Amino acid sequence: MGTYARNPVEFVRGEGRTLWDAEGNEYLDFLAGISVVQIGHCHPALVAAVTEQAQRLMHVGNLFYTEPQMRLAGRLSKSSLGGKVFFANSGAEANECAIKLARRRKQGGDIVVSEGGFHGRTYGALSATPQEAKQAPFAPLVPGFKVVGRSDPESLHAAVDENTAAVLLEPVQGETGIHPLDEEYLAFARRLCDEHGALLIFDEVQCGMGRTGWMWAWQGVEVRPDVMTSAKGLGGGLPIGACVTTPEQADVLQPGDHGSTFAGGPVIAAAANAVFDVVDDPDLLSDVADYGERLARGLAEIGLRGVRGRGLMLAFETADAPAFARRALLEERLVLNATGPDTVRLLPPLTVTPEEIDDALDRIERVASAA
Ligand SMILES: Cc1ncc(COP(=O)(O)O)c(C=O)c1O
Repeated sequence: MGTYARNPVEFVRGEGRTLWDAEGNEYLDFLAGISVVQIGHCHPALVAAVTEQAQRLMHVGNLFYTEPQMRLAGRLSKSSLGGKVFFANSGAEANECAIKLARRRKQGGDIVVSEGGFHGRTYGALSATPQEAKQAPFAPLVPGFKVVGRSDPESLHAAVDENTAAVLLEPVQGETGIHPLDEEYLAFARRLCDEHGALLIFDEVQCGMGRTGWMWAWQGVEVRPDVMTSAKGLGGGLPIGACVTTPEQADVLQPGDHGSTFAGGPVIAAAANAVFDVVDDPDLLSDVADYGERLARGLAEIGLRGVRGRGLMLAFETADAPAFARRALLEERLVLNATGPDTVRLLPPLTVTPEEIDDALDRIERVASAA
């Protein structure tokens, strides 16, 4: 179906930060499938883990335990909130779990979401995504979602009350142009949720898994949610989602409340464990922070406006961003994307090197000067 505005390029192979098209042209990938190919294309450890697991056991379903899934659940929990994990197959599904958990805990309660937030395309996640163009054609949506201004404490204060089941936020908004939410605002959301017995849910689907230079973006702002969702980079290129809780919220969902046939299967869990091995490493995370600064500094030095973001989750502004991204792709063979009419987004694999960052900056400068 025609749901994507596709580029006229067919990719056939990838290695590290490099992609090749069907004609043999070589590209530098600074989009990583939108923060998915977290450790680069076809990372040998990831390929080996998937291959080995595919030869051993591919599927038994969630009526049974498997070692890769248990190991992954333990690592997700230990690296974040210390409670339990529900596995899903995507970011939207991970958020569906979080929304259901919040409503299960406070029945009929509202879910408060922010302007500029994006949480996915399924009905619950879409209802949490306050964008007219995405929502209106599919009305009626799921009821009970309240929208507040981005980083606007007054509207948040007015929206959260005893009937609030959860406040759902992206610590760094991704799809609407890389907007880190104010630290004080996130801390205020934490306090309001505590006051009114609501859950604070952070959607870390795009900004988590090392992307900001912290394993989870909330760790960089020291505001701890009750529930966190992950997907995208967690699988390094294969589909997975996860909803993680604190110990206090670990048993809200009971047998029969929620489920998924494929979620957290042995092959994808083995893949995510291989991604974890690479990303959950202080040296790599400190490189993400340093290289993110190098890239941001370079963009500003080129003279690009509105450079913003955290770690290797960056954006800049330019007139006609879709044309800029298209020229970068077709003329400079650099993969990035436009999140809107005036914003270009950069999300390179976290294993990017300083030389590749400088190379990308040269290509961006040539596109900018040709514009
Ligand atoms: C923050 C955030 N949440 C949820 C989603 C939805 O994830 P998926 O496309 O895997 O359903 C996305 C996808 O872009 C996202 O960026």
